[in-house]
Amino acid sequence: MEEVAVAHRNAKSTSDYVALSLLRMMRWGMDLATGYKHDKAVAKGQKDAKDAKSTSSMTEHKWLMRFVFLESVAGVPGMVAGMLRHLHSLRRMKRDNGWIETLLEESYNERMHLLTFLKIAEPGWFMRLMVLGAQGVFFNGFFVCYLLSPRTCHRFVGYLEEEAVITYTRTIQDLDAGKLPMFAKMQAPDIAVKYWNMPEGSRSMRDLLLYIRADESKHREVNHTLGNLDQKNDPNPYASKFEDESRPHPVKDIKYSRPQGWERDEAL
Ligand SMILES: [Fe+2]
Ligand SMILES: [Fe+2]
Repeated sequence: MEEVAVAHRNAKSTSDYVALSLLRMMRWGMDLATGYKHDKAVAKGQKDAKDAKSTSSMTEHKWLMRFVFLESVAGVPGMVAGMLRHLHSLRRMKRDNGWIETLLEESYNERMHLLTFLKIAEPGWFMRLMVLGAQGVFFNGFFVCYLLSPRTCHRFVGYLEEEAVITYTRTIQDLDAGKLPMFAKMQAPDIAVKYWNMPEGSRSMRDLLLYIRADESKHREVNHTLGNLDQKNDPNPYASKFEDESRPHPVKDIKYSRPQGWERDEAL
């Protein structure tokens, strides 16, 4: 989990560029909503450390609100994609090739991230309103986009998860740098200990952030991989058995991790 790192898959096709531009737009909106000024704080910190700390740095509460917002959005795509593939299978009377379960699992995982953070901090009415508005727009937008181009949508989620890994990596760095004293003392809530089966002695806030970041890195890989596949005919490699188990291939845990996703010929 310590080895999970920030990564980026370069946009190659037009659909990749569309996904990346949409994501960048959303990221801008989200930074605004959660008062996230990391880049500004870093730039200021080089000139005037004290001023940067008082005006732009991220406090524990700001991080938590960012997590809550991020997770409330992140739980949507898997459910929408899973639902649409489910409906597709029903009306076309065709098998789904194992995608639905992985997609629903992802949205459940994101919801557990959200519920975990809610045990630590309660959002105020403004944040609740932002979440409400964001879901209204994002659910419908993602729904329509997934009907038009599921491949672009998986790429988009891949990019979204790249951002999630960045967010949690920065929090861990801030924590290690002693900037988040409240987190440094905090233990993971019970709900998290049960869900991740966190062993005794490894239940700190830092451990929790490592677990969550590892989940995000897996979502990143899964969605970039699904974005490389033939949406109609290919099986879900994460639900497949491989003849040659010794050859690296997509797996559910972080044994063979491939941040940019598996290309189609290696995934199948
Ligand atoms: Fe998450
Ligand atoms: Fe995620």
